[in-house]
Amino acid sequence: MTTQGDLAALFDWRAAVVLLPIQPDDGTVLFPAERGAVRNVVLGRRSEFASGRRCAHLAMEHLGRPGLAVPMGLDRAPVWPHGIVGSITHTDTMSAAVAALKADGIRSLGIDLEPALPLPEDAVDTILRPEERRGLASLPKATQLLHARIIFCAKEAFFKCQYGISRLMIDFHVVAIRLDLADGSFEAALTQDAGIFPANQVFAGRFHLDAALIAAGMTLEG
Ligand SMILES: CC(C)(COP(=O)(O)OP(=O)(O)OC[C@H]1O[C@@H](n2cnc3c(N)ncnc32)[C@H](O)[C@@H]1OP(=O)(O)O)[C@@H](O)C(=O)NCCC(=O)NCCS
Repeated sequence: MTTQGDLAALFDWRAAVVLLPIQPDDGTVLFPAERGAVRNVVLGRRSEFASGRRCAHLAMEHLGRPGLAVPMGLDRAPVWPHGIVGSITHTDTMSAAVAALKADGIRSLGIDLEPALPLPEDAVDTILRPEERRGLASLPKATQLLHARIIFCAKEAFFKCQYGISRLMIDFHVVAIRLDLADGSFEAALTQDAGIFPANQVFAGRFHLDAALIAAGMTLEG
């Protein structure tokens, strides 16, 4: 079973991470400023949203701050309170959030959780670059699509982390992931300029894999 400690190990020690199972929303978690985002949605979506926000509120408390509202922005990205950076993710069953104080030197964070299942074969070309697909070919056939999903998870964590700074939507092929399977780390290299980030800039992240979940995390300092 994936633990909160497994996720905390993906981030800088100054970040606080919370992992919770998703419970049906009972209307007690969300602040008024958060509720509008899920007013007209099905219970499942409201529950994952509320659970992600509960993780976010608790992560802020772990930082020694009050757990304040994290409304959804017009671009759907979470709007963290002044002085706090963070990131939220969920699967069908679990939700997680990571948060840190800008004053502690953390510039942006990205987290992603995925079920530990093979990536659907028809998604591979959309998500993986040719060299990433070639890298998978050296792995046993049975694990190739699971590793493709780790790459997907790493790209989502990178995407959220960079978005916190650039506000830029980027395509999956703009970043190339290199996994270090033994170390549980990855590098995300830009294959072209992306807003303020120049081509070839490399960002470091970490991933976790167990029988249930894949998790990826990225911390940008500064
Ligand atoms: C937004 C996106 C990253 C969400 O990822 P996902 O794996 O589908 O879903 P997750 O559960 O992990 O994350 C959802 C959470 O991400 C957060 N989120 C949404 N948009 C975001 C953004 N632009 N930046 C950072 N976080 C964002 C939200 O908190 C959301 O949860 P909420 O709606 O309950 O608040 C994804 O759907 C997406 O649109 N990606 C854009 C393309 C992309 O990933 N490119 C990769 C380039 S390398």
